[in-house]
Amino acid sequence: MHAEIIRSTIKLNKNMKLLDIGGGTGEISNYFVNDVKEISILDPSKEMLSKIDSNKIKRFCGSAEKIPFKNNSFDIIYCVDSLHHFTNSKDIKEWRKVIRTSINEMSRVLNKKGTIIIIEFNPQKIGGKIIKFIENSLYNFGSSFYDPNSLGDLFKTEGMSSKLEYERGHTYVLKITKNI
Ligand SMILES: C[S@@+](CC[C@H](N)C(=O)[O-])C[C@H]1O[C@@H](n2cnc3c(N)ncnc32)[C@H](O)[C@@H]1O
Repeated sequence: MHAEIIRSTIKLNKNMKLLDIGGGTGEISNYFVNDVKEISILDPSKEMLSKIDSNKIKRFCGSAEKIPFKNNSFDIIYCVDSLHHFTNSKDIKEWRKVIRTSINEMSRVLNKKGTIIIIEFNPQKIGGKIIKFIENSLYNFGSSFYDPNSLGDLFKTEGMSSKLEYERGHTYVLKITKNI
């Protein structure tokens, strides 16, 4: 379902280079391997990366806070159910800085005409509240959830434009582009 939302949000083509941040086992990226030039997954979990079964997907172990690529490297960047995990195991006082640094890094490695897609859960909706409770109160992950406006504002602070592309229940999709 999330892969279909991405597909309906952007028109993929064979010249594109994609970066899936927090892509885990490649569940989402698997859908696009035959449609684009190259897909890279960046994830700090070696265990998740080891489960990627497509040899067409490049894997990189690392964090969104320090993306190991040159400026303007990607046409499309997507984070599906991953951005709120960027703060996992971090001190709560660091959370905002972690997210801002990660957004800054995404902007740096995105082409001028590129697009960032964020699929996240709205903590103001009942389903989002439940996910937040499970991740933070039951499992103590330290996940940081933003409603669409607050997250969009963070991207705007980094000089980008943000549009709420889709919202259903607690799931929402932001489409972000650079101001050029
Ligand atoms: C719930 S999984 C989502 C995986 C995948 N996007 C999907 O939808 O199937 C969250 C992923 O975020 C990754 N993650 C956690 N902290 C991260 C960070 N600082 N930078 C990038 N990815 C991170 C986790 O390792 C995990 O693979």
